[in-house]
Amino acid sequence: MNSIILSFQHVTFTYTPEDETVAPAVKDVSLAVHDGEWLAIVGHNGSGKSTMVKLMNGLLFPGEGSVAAMGMDMNEETLWDIRSQMGMVFQNPDNQFVGATVQDDVAFALENNGVPHAEMVKRVKESLAHVKMSDYLDHEPHHLSGGQKQRVAIAGALALRPRLLILDEATSMLDPQGRMEVIETIQALRESTGLTVISITHDLEEAALADRILVMNVGEKIMEGPPETVFAEGNRLVELGLDLPFAMRVSHLLQEAGVPLGKAHMSEEGLVEELWTFYSKK
Ligand SMILES: Nc1ncnc2c1ncn2[C@@H]1O[C@H](COP(=O)(O)OP(=O)(O)O)[C@@H](O)[C@H]1O
Ligand SMILES: [Mg+2]
Repeated sequence: MNSIILSFQHVTFTYTPEDETVAPAVKDVSLAVHDGEWLAIVGHNGSGKSTMVKLMNGLLFPGEGSVAAMGMDMNEETLWDIRSQMGMVFQNPDNQFVGATVQDDVAFALENNGVPHAEMVKRVKESLAHVKMSDYLDHEPHHLSGGQKQRVAIAGALALRPRLLILDEATSMLDPQGRMEVIETIQALRESTGLTVISITHDLEEAALADRILVMNVGEKIMEGPPETVFAEGNRLVELGLDLPFAMRVSHLLQEAGVPLGKAHMSEEGLVEELWTFYSKK
């Protein structure tokens, strides 16, 4: 088993502990993320996902329980060391730019970290190549599409060579094209670098690509497992206000209409394949 890169031990967090009428934003959550793994965290609005991200990077500390990352207990002393090994990408692509050009923007954090110029140039090029934005070095960030902006934001995070990349709803403000670009970027990155990824998303199609899914509901972890296992509980996910992937919804409709599918498919390719096999035998 790969080593654990981040973990929560019975973490509870309440924004207003003095007010007993307010429920904890995160309640008794334990989790472990292994080196090289892609974990997706899904859940309805207000289910505690962003609070978990803030607990992961030491912006908040648990009221009860503990957080560990990169082999260290999270506390005031270790948090800078831990944070330097994490890349973060957030929801709004327009709030993440500081540079006048794409390459300045990616270089910014490196400059702040005192990375020597030659090394900086190398890392900026490398990071932009990873997200397929090498042709945009001198473009102004605000002229890019949403998907391109988020890819540049990912490059900015990558330039710092993190061990863990955390994306908090990084695709949720994008159109389908932009969302696809970002998802494909994450997949390609994982294949080429084996980077550990935690992605927080409403989008179950995106979550279906992760190694493991953790489902949150009003502050509690209610399900956890590989996508096949979690999606097997499709009705429960719908009850929680989550939209099943398109191929699953179509699978269910076909099954109701009497098409004997072996299972509800997570991907359109899988569904098409089974339908093709079934009808070509007829
Ligand atoms: N700064 C804050 N102060 C008080 N309550 C907050 C704050 N941020 C979030 N909350 C509450 O904590 C709960 C979880 O929020 P959040 O972690 O943002 O959920 P999610 O990211 O899943 O939408 C919600 O009930 C939300 O209203
Ligand atoms: Mg959130």
